[in-house]
Amino acid sequence: MIKHILVTAGPTREKIDPVRYISNYSTGVFGYEIANAAKRRGLSVTLISGPTLLTPPEKVKFVSVESADDMRAAVLKFLNWSDCVIMTAAVADWRPRRSARRKMKKSGARNIELVENPDILAEVGRLKKRRVVVGFALETENLEKNALKKLKDKNLDIIVANRLTSKRNVFGDETLDVVTIDRFGNRTRIFNKDKSKLAKIILDKALKFRIH
Ligand code: C5P
Repeated sequence: MIKHILVTAGPTREKIDPVRYISNYSTGVFGYEIANAAKRRGLSVTLISGPTLLTPPEKVKFVSVESADDMRAAVLKFLNWSDCVIMTAAVADWRPRRSARRKMKKSGARNIELVENPDILAEVGRLKKRRVVVGFALETENLEKNALKKLKDKNLDIIVANRLTSKRNVFGDETLDVVTIDRFGNRTRIFNKDKSKLAKIILDKALKFRIH
């Protein structure tokens, strides 16, 4: 039985200098809804979140982080204690190789060298043991094929894939279409549901998932 759940949410911010950063449009809503739903189901919840405008749910262990490195450290710290991990965070794929200690002066065009951030979910997949691990995939093309590859490469139990199109804005829209794929190949297509309903459906799938 799953009792302790770890959720990541929101974007990360990767510092360029003390006043500038690289980030993305993630709002964190999905992760906070999952944390809320898990709390209502009586689970103990750790929510590790990048910067968002949301209020953390009550009675949840809330860990606020900024960068992908911070998020990775927090996830590894709380992983042992969890038996289900749901990673909704939109971790920045790159960070500046160096972040300046002082504000950079405006002086024409500039190149910023980026290095790859650690893939936190892939690391959790390697350490997973008997945990149920759920990841998300946001794709512009070949949605199910790419999601399936991620499920396998990252050793996940379930992947939740949503398509980024010009019609649907996954960051802002009230309702979404998603497809979930589990490691046994079961696929579920869910249409036009709001993030709070989707959060409950995804949480239920994770809680019912049997490790064979
Ligand atoms: O490979 P991709 O970034 O599309 O994978 C998305 C999934 O991996 C999400 O569940 C996200 O939270 C997780 N992820 C992560 N660390 C990264 C990149 C993605 O945990 N550096």
